[in-house]
Amino acid sequence: MDVKEKIKQIEKQIEETVKDIESSQTLLEIKMKFLGKTGEISSLMKNMRDVPPEERPSMGKLLNALRQWTEEKFDKLEAGLKSIELKKKYAEEKIDVTMPGIPVPDGAYHPNTLITNELISIFLGMGFEIFEGPEIENDYYNFTALNTPQDHPARDMQDTFYLAENLLLRTQTSAGQIRVMETKKPPIKILSPGKVYRSDDDATHSPMFSQMEMLVVDKGLTLCDLQGMLDEFVKKIFGSDVKTRLRPSYFPFTEPSVEVDVSCFECGGKGCRLCKGTGWIEVGGAGMVNRRVLEGCNIDPDEYTGFAFGLGIERIAMLKYGINNMKLLFEGDTRFLKQFKG
Ligand code: DAH
Repeated sequence: MDVKEKIKQIEKQIEETVKDIESSQTLLEIKMKFLGKTGEISSLMKNMRDVPPEERPSMGKLLNALRQWTEEKFDKLEAGLKSIELKKKYAEEKIDVTMPGIPVPDGAYHPNTLITNELISIFLGMGFEIFEGPEIENDYYNFTALNTPQDHPARDMQDTFYLAENLLLRTQTSAGQIRVMETKKPPIKILSPGKVYRSDDDATHSPMFSQMEMLVVDKGLTLCDLQGMLDEFVKKIFGSDVKTRLRPSYFPFTEPSVEVDVSCFECGGKGCRLCKGTGWIEVGGAGMVNRRVLEGCNIDPDEYTGFAFGLGIERIAMLKYGINNMKLLFEGDTRFLKQFKG
């Protein structure tokens, strides 16, 4: 067939096929049929090889014109269809911004989290760093290095969950003291929160509970520095009228060891149910780090001294929020938890 005829035919064919097209996707498919690598126009161009050389220039011109015409036609149609499609899409996806939103129920922090965060912020303000030790410990860190060797009677103070001969669930965050002192040289100021485990279960004890450990090692520290720091922190957490009192006690890893009491923030020290009539409430154990513990961590006890303090987070939460049963802190009952907003 004469090429001119063929060109006319193609043009007509294109006009026919694109007449009722409604989607840009179908348009694209048709475009490929004519302009694609194996499309009709491309094949016509390939046939140029068979055209006698003297006819090639004029023929080429005609074919180029056809291709250009076709391209422009499709481009124009595509632009038109796309804009219609976009408008349709916008109309369908329209969001009514005046609709009321889906309410997201308010969460509340667990009392343990509230106390932990409060303690962390108090101590970070004093220049402490946070250290988190592992919950699975070995005997050395949990006991031996804390001056509590095998068969030491003080091991009886903490009913331990053993996982293997030498592996246990840590019974105290004090284990972290050793990990810190082994790797860090004084001055040391560490706060170490975390879960601890003991085989113990009643209204004021749970097999898993949380502690917070505080450790300071530097030159020339005394028990007065410990009391000063305790005063400061107790005022922040229980109120500015609250005082501290240190009572002699015993922990293998501190010497001297003390029990830390605070004046009852409920009755101001007069004696009530909360303080069992004594005017004082026990909040934790503390003391000057035992020389043997420092030595074990290669810290010279003649050059450096340290003090440590450990408290139970649940106990503080129960005291501060007036919670009478520790189990409430572990049941996850949202009616209970919702009451604490920090
Ligand atoms: N680890 C002790 C316990 O769980 C508490 C304690 C006492 C921590 C004295 C200390 C401390 O840092 O100095 O019973």
